[in-house]
Amino acid sequence: MGSAVGLGNVWRFPFQAGQEGGAVFVLLYLWFVLLIGVPAMLVEFTVGRLTGRSPVGALAEFGGGAWRYLGGLFILIGFLILSYYSVVAGWVLRYVVGSVTGGYAGRSESYFLDIATGFDALVFHAIFMALTVAIVALGVRRGIELAVTVMVPAVAFVVLALVVYAWTLPDAGAAYEYYLSPDFSLLASDWRSIVPAAAGQAFFSLSVGMGVMITFASYLDEERNLLVDTGIIVAIDTAVAFLTGLFVFPILFTAGVGPADPGPGAIFVALAGAFADIPAGSVVGVVFFGMFAIAALSSAISIMEVVVSFAIDEFGAVRRRTAAVTGVAMFLLGTPVALLSSQRQPILVTLYDALAAQILLVSGGIVLMILVAWIGADRAMAELRRGMHSPGVLPQVWIWLVRIPVIVVLLVTLALAVGDYWSFLSGDFADFLGL
Ligand code: PHE
Repeated sequence: MGSAVGLGNVWRFPFQAGQEGGAVFVLLYLWFVLLIGVPAMLVEFTVGRLTGRSPVGALAEFGGGAWRYLGGLFILIGFLILSYYSVVAGWVLRYVVGSVTGGYAGRSESYFLDIATGFDALVFHAIFMALTVAIVALGVRRGIELAVTVMVPAVAFVVLALVVYAWTLPDAGAAYEYYLSPDFSLLASDWRSIVPAAAGQAFFSLSVGMGVMITFASYLDEERNLLVDTGIIVAIDTAVAFLTGLFVFPILFTAGVGPADPGPGAIFVALAGAFADIPAGSVVGVVFFGMFAIAALSSAISIMEVVVSFAIDEFGAVRRRTAAVTGVAMFLLGTPVALLSSQRQPILVTLYDALAAQILLVSGGIVLMILVAWIGADRAMAELRRGMHSPGVLPQVWIWLVRIPVIVVLLVTLALAVGDYWSFLSGDFADFLGL
């Protein structure tokens, strides 16, 4: 849960929903979470618990030697994701400070553009990465667990309070219409970008497609019912995202900001506007952004843990040194994201993020599903049955769902994602490069 709930729910979800047409995107996302996210998480959980190893070793054991290269892909995805995730989490830290100083009051849109790229962004990117390295280096699992068990209910409480606040705003009705009542003509015209965006969001938000859930499941014991664990994680993760949208859009609509306009700044612009408006807003701001930062930190740790546990298990590397070296490399990879902008927007976030979520996580997921559902199906089904009281035909249904429909749907979304990415590269990004 600590890995799943993070920037993906509170930052990425409302920004994607705003850019991809609102309710149709939300509907498709929910559909992908249920039909693809749940089976995909079970795939990772069974491999992790069965082998009891971190991804590279787990795949080599489960599938045989050459499958370790899929683990190599996971490591690369981890590098890419954490490099820009840390930049965005740096924005969150910056907003904790901004809430104290009142920096964003009355200028929520321009404040975001001021801090999203440049020196501030780089400094806070460095701070967040250093925190991640410190926790991974110390291997403090207990501290993290404690922070997360306190944080999840706290986040839920503040999110609910914001939902109620947003409900009282004058333009809430129009916002609910946009967010909840699907305009299917949009789907007809823009499905080429909406479909891969929704699939990518489902993978990203649930932390599947790069072995995080393999790593975590390797610590689970036989008594655990993997289906129940999956259900709880998926339900909470999805609820946090859905509720976030429920307050972000009323705030944006009431402020007269179009849902797609702030782009990756959506949540920041919305919250800064709200906190400037409510009593004791700066206190609420510190609490909210502070909790948001902890949620991001627990996700970041899970990503770095995949890389570090790989180096430890395979090469006998020293935890502390590996964490430090990994952190520096990821920091450098994220540096251009923190520094470069196009019309003051952090354009490289899109370059990294769309590649990571829509193309790489989905690819990682597909290959892993082929391995588990076609090559190791019997072992995976047996593993799923362990800890379940009366599994019945569920394991078979799961394997057959993955074998054909899930893999086929994902191949289609992957093809669309590549096309969509290409239009970004040859459009906005080429403009940015001055081509
Ligand atoms: N699920 C995390 C979030 O929502 C991000 C993440 C993606 C973590 C992939 C691990 C792996 O913020």
